Amino acid sequence: MSTSILEARNITKRFGGLTANEDVNLLLAGEAGQVVSVIGPNGAGKSTLFKMLSGFLKPSSGSVLLYGQEITGMAPHRIARLGLVRTFQETTIFPDLTAMEHVSLAHQLHRQANDLEVVLRMPRARADEAALSASAAEILELMELSPVADVAARHLPQGYLRLLGIGMGLATRPRVLLLDEPYAGLNPEETNRAVMITRKIANSGISVLLVEHDMKAVMAISDFIHVLYFGKKIAEGTPEEIRNNPKVIEAYLGQEDKELGL
Ligand SMILES: Nc1ncnc2c1ncn2[C@@H]1O[C@H](COP(=O)(O)OP(=O)(O)OP(=O)(O)O)[C@@H](O)[C@H]1O
Ligand SMILES: [Mg+2]
Repeated sequence: MSTSILEARNITKRFGGLTANEDVNLLLAGEAGQVVSVIGPNGAGKSTLFKMLSGFLKPSSGSVLLYGQEITGMAPHRIARLGLVRTFQETTIFPDLTAMEHVSLAHQLHRQANDLEVVLRMPRARADEAALSASAAEILELMELSPVADVAARHLPQGYLRLLGIGMGLATRPRVLLLDEPYAGLNPEETNRAVMITRKIANSGISVLLVEHDMKAVMAISDFIHVLYFGKKIAEGTPEEIRNNPKVIEAYLGQEDKELGL
């Protein structure tokens, strides 16, 4: 039997009379480093699903398991420590800090030494610092941000800020990374670059769960796709299967700007 990495079992989320997710099942299993996408028209419940997986919303019913461990309703920081991380949004970017400082800051979440040791500058804390700055440099390299490592965020274009947000997520050493519309608002060149970098992240052994409206990007990068429609899962399969699935095509009809890129 293949290893279960992340699993949602029959999760439902109700906001008053509105059911944003209804009995949704999702299984991410097998090899680490896959890219699995969740697609669906606006309001289908994709972000709600991600928020439940990462602890930002509590499901009305159902459960979430990370490597077989029940994490339903656990606080986001505890889930992050177990290896499932949602990326930082632009709002977590500080205009005056450099790219390197942002990644180092995110790293603080994961340092091994406790605060007292840091204050007392004990050996473990010093070793941590060296390891962390090496690792921050490595992350900037992976994100292709090394050339702007020392540039303040306020001077960086949108495409770079988005990559920086993902880099900050990586600094917390996730095993599973959730990306909600990471390419939204990027121009085609920035999108291509970000898609390639997302693939590199997955190839480094991190499983990526992606919500994205850019169908060309989704079809190109995904190993597997789940489709939500009005809160329910209507299909799952490989990009090829999804592209040819009549239910999916039907769900997307009339959504000219969000077409399947057929
Ligand atoms: N906190 C909330 N309170 C009430 N309703 C909510 C809340 N969050 C989401 N909803 C509703 O739940 C439904 C699903 O929203 P969600 O944001 O998950 O959709 P989505 O698939 O991410 O859409 P989009 O593609 O536009 O980002 C929508 O009808 C939305 O209005
Ligand atoms: Mg959304």
